[in-house]
Amino acid sequence: MFRPIAILDSGLGGLTILKSLYKILPLETYVYLADQKNCPYGERKKEEIESLSQKACQYLLKFKPKIIVIACNTITTESISDLREKFKGVSFVGVVPPVKLAVKKTKTGHFIILSTKATQKGDYLKSLIKDYASSFRVYSLSGSGLVKLIESGQIKDKEIEKLLEKRLSKALKDEKIDTLATGCTHYPLVKKQILAFFNKRGKQISFIEPGTAVANQVKRILAQKKLLVSKKQGKNILYTTLKRNNLRSLISNFGFKMMIKEVKY
Ligand code: DGL
Repeated sequence: MFRPIAILDSGLGGLTILKSLYKILPLETYVYLADQKNCPYGERKKEEIESLSQKACQYLLKFKPKIIVIACNTITTESISDLREKFKGVSFVGVVPPVKLAVKKTKTGHFIILSTKATQKGDYLKSLIKDYASSFRVYSLSGSGLVKLIESGQIKDKEIEKLLEKRLSKALKDEKIDTLATGCTHYPLVKKQILAFFNKRGKQISFIEPGTAVANQVKRILAQKKLLVSKKQGKNILYTTLKRNNLRSLISNFGFKMMIKEVKY
């Protein structure tokens, strides 16, 4: 039996990571689980995030994945150590806010990290900033509300702009901001709106997303374990705990094919 690469997110944000995986490892088979019924995780307490992600990983294990990619900053920063402890022997790769990439990219030393409420308030991101960006002017802000708008399936530019105005207000006074790092995998789905928001205010910013770095790391681990395939073995499937109408068109926008199935576990 072939072993897929499993991907987990609270919703559709992980597709922005799958896009990079698909580009770098096109022959692999992907099983994606979107817990859309319980999304957003970023508005939940740590204990809830731990319990929901444990249940989701338990479900994914039935596919005997060779690796589980936690394509969600909120799950990674709040509960990946708990998952590693609970599922010993399972290989996990997570995604964390790309602070190191932002540090490399910024020219002024002033940048924004935009993440969910849980990630922004959590200890993980705070120590990441302390360890790698203590001499930089970092605005660590929450994009609370954005995930809900994105998941609703109708991305309305005006609503996104209104929300960004509120969430980014602290940083907007700083003329030197030149970079925005996305600490939530959903946010690249509204990259266009975020860039337009800054353009309108006369600013060009570098938009940092971690997809390529995560995909390269997965490739490295699988190569090391000699688990990479040389031909396609199965169908890519997206399992969701809440099926929405917009799913198919969103997936086709990414340029890949996936079967969609609703699941209860
Ligand atoms: N896409 C997720 C992240 O990277 C979580 C979004 C949410 O459920 O709040 O944080």
